Formats: sequence, structure tokens, C-alpha cells
Amino acid sequence: MAPLKNNVFLRALMREPVPYTPVWLMRQAGRYLPEYKQTRAQAGSFMGLAQNPDYACEVTLQPLRRFALDAAILFSDILTVPDAMGLGLQFMEGEGPRFDRVVRDEAQVQALTVPDMDRLRYVFDAVTLIRRELDGKVPLIGFSGSPWTLACYMVEGRGSSDYRQIKTMLYQRPDLLHRILKINAQAVQQYLNAQIRAGAQAVMIFDSWGGVLADGLFQQFSLDYTRLVLSGLIREHEGERIPAVVFTKGGGMWIEDIAKSGCDAVGVDWTVNLGEARRRTGDQVAFQGNLDPMALFGGDEAIRREARRVIDDFGPVGEGGHIFNLGHGISQFTPPEAVTSLVDEVHMYSRQAHTG
Ligand code: CP3
Repeated sequence: MAPLKNNVFLRALMREPVPYTPVWLMRQAGRYLPEYKQTRAQAGSFMGLAQNPDYACEVTLQPLRRFALDAAILFSDILTVPDAMGLGLQFMEGEGPRFDRVVRDEAQVQALTVPDMDRLRYVFDAVTLIRRELDGKVPLIGFSGSPWTLACYMVEGRGSSDYRQIKTMLYQRPDLLHRILKINAQAVQQYLNAQIRAGAQAVMIFDSWGGVLADGLFQQFSLDYTRLVLSGLIREHEGERIPAVVFTKGGGMWIEDIAKSGCDAVGVDWTVNLGEARRRTGDQVAFQGNLDPMALFGGDEAIRREARRVIDDFGPVGEGGHIFNLGHGISQFTPPEAVTSLVDEVHMYSRQAHTG
């Protein structure tokens, strides 16, 4: 594999000195880019894109051709894992993901097993291909959903606004939910390790729905299983440290606990003040975030102002420890020029802030 030409993202994750604040965006490959929509149409469907390593590689690289991003993220989806468990994933046009089968009663839970990683071979092939095509330009991030967030889709069968099915299980039959979460944790651990062996240089765990849990239950049903995943991850591959990021949407009140989970960085949404987050965690971890994705609709001036606010909140740039990102995925309605302004401002302003 080619040596890395831009390691600012990895350095910031490991809290090593950096010349500027690195930036990438959650869902940076997606429908806000016309070239993505074109490739998706060619592939016929979302899964057609994700399951074909050539297409997956192409759409992973698309945002990097337009913007000076400091990292690439594998193009795939968190729901590939429950799909490999045999639940039958479908992406309905304009409706979001759906599973043909749910895991809700005792028999369904008993039948659940860790999938053979060979069924996810297309993901690992995509990772290796992307690494080769990147040719060392920027590092490649691999990812997975957290055990809890995956369980939300497996029990609900689709996205949910009230999480009624999974919370019924949580309060009525916590033993069944713990069994699902244990299997998910093993699956996620194997899945991320296979991505690392295939060439992922950092990994991220998306706990997108951790924030819907009550205090105390978040720790028990989400964070404990994320910790289990982290405890068995490959942390060094071919002589390089593989940093791990844990992103919990709505997890601002738990960052002390998350920082102690064994991750290198905590991803936070826009409700968190980054300076306060650092003080609360005693600088044990790096932070990734946290511009409100809707700020990208504010026009050039507002985007630049809000980007500076996030950088200033974090504090001195040169010490590392901050990876600029959005607080959640980019909206499909975002004008691509807004991303140009954002990336430009993050790089320019943080370089100035660094040199004084
Ligand atoms: O960040 C990237 O560019 C990498 C690709 C990526 C996708 N999904 C592609 C995708 C990543 C990292 C994900 C993670 C993911 N998927 C999460 C966790 C992050 C988060 O947003 O909280 C979740 C919860 C999912 C599940 C999922 N996949 C949903 C709810 C949807 C539909 C929502 C929507 O935006 O329509 C998807 C589909 C999906 N995954 C799209 C993309 C680009 C859009 C689908 C399309 O092209 O039709």
C-alpha cells in the first residue's frame, strides 16, 4: 500500500500536533452530489451500489474529487450486518431502510447468530479496492453501527419515531434484548476487524440512536456493548495504530462515560460545546464534530462564521485532538457549494489560528 500523503486526520485522532484542523463529513458520499445520483441510477438501487466494489469505490472517491477533505469513509451502510444475519434488507425509494423479517419474539431471538463474515466479503473487497485507488491521498475510515443502533432496526424492522417495539422488549424481556446485543457486539467486532485487515486505517462506531435511551439504560444497553466491541478490536495493523471513534447522537450528557469506553475519539452532535467537552473529560480523548448540518443552508457568510465558532470552542488548534465534522449526516438537499465554503474556512481559519 502507498505511504500516506496526508495524515492530519490520524494525527488529530491520536492527539498529536497538527498544522490545521482536519475535516470530513458524515455521509459525505450521498444524494447531495449529482454524480452520486448518477452512479446510483446506473447501479439500479442503493444495495446495488453498496454490493458492487467498483461502484462503492467510485462513490467513496466522488466527494474527494470536489472537496479538500482529510479522510475518506467507506461507502456502505450500517445495515449490511443485520442483512447478513438473514433479515432481508430493502431500501424503498423515498422511505428509508426496511427488513423483511424482524427479531421480536423468543424464537426469533433464539434463531439469531453471528453471520459468516464471508457474506460481507463485498464490503472488505471494497475497502481493499478503495485503499488501492486512494493511493495514499488520505486515510480510509471503516465503520459499523453500534450493537444498540443495529438492534433498533432489527427489532423495529425499520426506522422508528418512538422505538416502541425495542423499548417494549427492553422493559418486558431485557434478557432477550441482552442476547441480541451480545450477538451484535460479536458480529460488529468481527466486521470491523475484517475491515481493518482489508485496509481500513481508522474505524467509527455509529450509535445514532443511543440518545433515545434513559440515563442508566444508555450505559447498560448501548455503551456496555460498544465497550465490548472496542475491547476486542485490532488496535494496530501493519505497524500503524488504528484509532476508533464512537459517535452517539444525543449523547452529550454521557461524554465522560463514552470517553472511558476504550475509544480514541468521541463524536458529538451540535448540542455539545467542544471546549466544555474537553474540560469534562480531562483531555483523555479527541473529539469529532459538531456543526449543525442545517448551518450549511445559511449561505457562505453564516457557514464560515459557524465553522469558526466550532473551532474557537474547541481551543488551540496546534495541539491536535479536534476533527471537524458535522453533528450528524449531511442533508441530501445541501448545495455542494456550501461544502466548498465549509472545508475552505476550516482549513484557512485553523491554519491562521495555529500560526497566530
Ligand atoms: O458517510 C458516508 O459517506 C458513508 C456512507 C454511509 C451511509 N450510511 C450511506 C447511505 C454511512 C456511514 C451510513 C451509516 C448509517 N446508515 C447510519 C449511521 C449514521 C447516521 O446517519 O446516523 C444509519 C442510521 C444508517 C441507516 C440508513 N441508511 C438510513 C436511516 C437510511 C435512509 C435515510 C436517508 O438518508 O434516506 C440509509 C440510506 C443511506 N445510507 C443513504 C446513503 C448515502 C441514502 C440512500 C440512497 O442513496 O438512496
